[in-house]
Amino acid sequence: MCGIVAYIGPKDATPFLLEGLARLEYRGYDSAGVAVAGRTGGIKVRKVKGRVADLAAAVPARFKGSTGIGHTRWATHGVPSDANAHPHLDNAERIAVVHNGIIENADELRAKLAADGAVFRSETDTEVLGHLIAAHAAEGVELEEAVRAALGKVVGTYGIAVLDAEQPDRIVVARNGSPIVLGIGEKEMFVASDVSALVRYTRQVVHLEDGELATVRADGFRTFTEDARTTHRQPSTVDWEIDSYDTGGYEHFLLKEIHEQPGSVERTLGGRLDERFATAHLGGLNLDARELREIRRVKILGCGSAYYAGEMGAQLIEELARIPAHSEPASEFRYRNPVIEADTLYIAVSQSGETYDTLAAVQEVKRKGGRVLGVVNTVGSAIARECDGGIYLHAGPEISVASTKAFTSTVVAFALIALHFGRIHDLSPADGRRIVSALKALPDQIREVLAQSDAIAELAAEYAHSEGMMFIGRVRGYPVAREGAQKLKEISYVHAEAYPASELKHGPLALISPELPTVALVPDDELLDKNLTTLGEIKARSGRVLAVAHRRPEAKLADHCILVPKSEPELDPLLLNIPLQLLAYHAAVALGRDVDKPRNLAKSVTVE
Ligand code: AGP
Repeated sequence: MCGIVAYIGPKDATPFLLEGLARLEYRGYDSAGVAVAGRTGGIKVRKVKGRVADLAAAVPARFKGSTGIGHTRWATHGVPSDANAHPHLDNAERIAVVHNGIIENADELRAKLAADGAVFRSETDTEVLGHLIAAHAAEGVELEEAVRAALGKVVGTYGIAVLDAEQPDRIVVARNGSPIVLGIGEKEMFVASDVSALVRYTRQVVHLEDGELATVRADGFRTFTEDARTTHRQPSTVDWEIDSYDTGGYEHFLLKEIHEQPGSVERTLGGRLDERFATAHLGGLNLDARELREIRRVKILGCGSAYYAGEMGAQLIEELARIPAHSEPASEFRYRNPVIEADTLYIAVSQSGETYDTLAAVQEVKRKGGRVLGVVNTVGSAIARECDGGIYLHAGPEISVASTKAFTSTVVAFALIALHFGRIHDLSPADGRRIVSALKALPDQIREVLAQSDAIAELAAEYAHSEGMMFIGRVRGYPVAREGAQKLKEISYVHAEAYPASELKHGPLALISPELPTVALVPDDELLDKNLTTLGEIKARSGRVLAVAHRRPEAKLADHCILVPKSEPELDPLLLNIPLQLLAYHAAVALGRDVDKPRNLAKSVTVE
């Protein structure tokens, strides 16, 4: 949510700032801005409502400086506008600030600063930071001291980068709840809120901790705490490939990421299957078999698609390990004073590892003495670091706002967890082998589904213009229906409802009409007959049905059918979900939507 970049070094900062912002645009894209200082003295700023391309068009050739900061915004305080875009300046135009997060006491600070003569030019909470830092930046005060003093008065979350016209040989950055990464170059330094902006320039990075600041100069950096104690941080190496940040010949990142799933699933499984004992090796859980046997319940926490992946995970854990498991939106859990039990294992799910609601839920569990594992894609992210152990997905960076490959890898990770827990409890070796072979077969089976992309595009073009769509599934199929509806809503803006197929006749059947088609998940499992009966009930009310099935239902029960390969029943949801990703993608394309950057959304929701 919002992106930050900064540069200091011998080159002109502007090209890096603009390119870095374009790479971070998936995090927020309603306005963008840059500020540079250096060669000619003073700070130059350009900021516009709109996309980074609009900003690039507005930046003149003479806009140069050896030190610079930039920002792409997802509005929280104030509408998207030129004035509300970052960077924000103090009245003397000495200090420029870009900020991710929320300053909770902004109104109070604004009133005090205004009383002292500050003139505010935006509706943002960020602008108070510029004035506040300027108020502490008296003659002879180092910029890091001014920033530290200002942040001492701030309540809220932030990742910030600060530029000072009078000290252009440095940038000061700080992190509290919103990521800041330093990139180490050859006699130059980079800063970003996300490594995706840095990988083209350097693989050596330092992730700041919450409560940490850094003074960044062309020849290095110094990190320290809010109470001025120096910290010592070793750089780590980013191992994600540079081409993960390009569309690689696909029309959109989303289509590329959908097609990457055979490989991302292989990476999630990589080295974790144990054929000899028909189980999974998950060293990162930091729990031995004895500790695992004491777990009586599993509670999974995540938001949006991560929550739906958690629902599939809960189903897997209950079926394979026979441990009661339940998934709950982290955004609800954290506000309801949850009961934390010693024999419950909490599992936080997040692609980005930054989602604020999920992080806050983890912190609530830990504060009350609970044990939390993370199922996270982004290595070293805030949620990963907060957890007691966990599994990294290794799905690779996910750029498109809608989650696809990370979703699938999350469910695969849960299958591994369920297998591991199951084999410690009562899952037989034969059942363990059944799951191990089914997991190994997944990448090729996903390829079979992806090969139907063109046929699914034709169906999507036909259904995309409906007034809405119903998604139904029974038991294992219900989370698939929820995720399918979410994907369609998110990127095509077509209204979609997900219901358990069993619930249809208890209310939503009243909605069924030719204008509201139903996507029905019809796996060939013990509930097949029940699902076919439901299709009959829909067809009897003139509803249109698009079945996603292992076997084509009779023509009188479904207007169209997408066939998917059969896995083991517990893993079928993984494959049933893939055509729904393609359906949503092609529907969004058919409707001319901005597939990778859907309106009103951002990739990482790092605010409450
Ligand atoms: C998924 O398509 C959505 N963009 C959204 O629901 C997302 O899954 C949710 O915000 C959680 O994100 P996270 O996995 O990064 O925590």
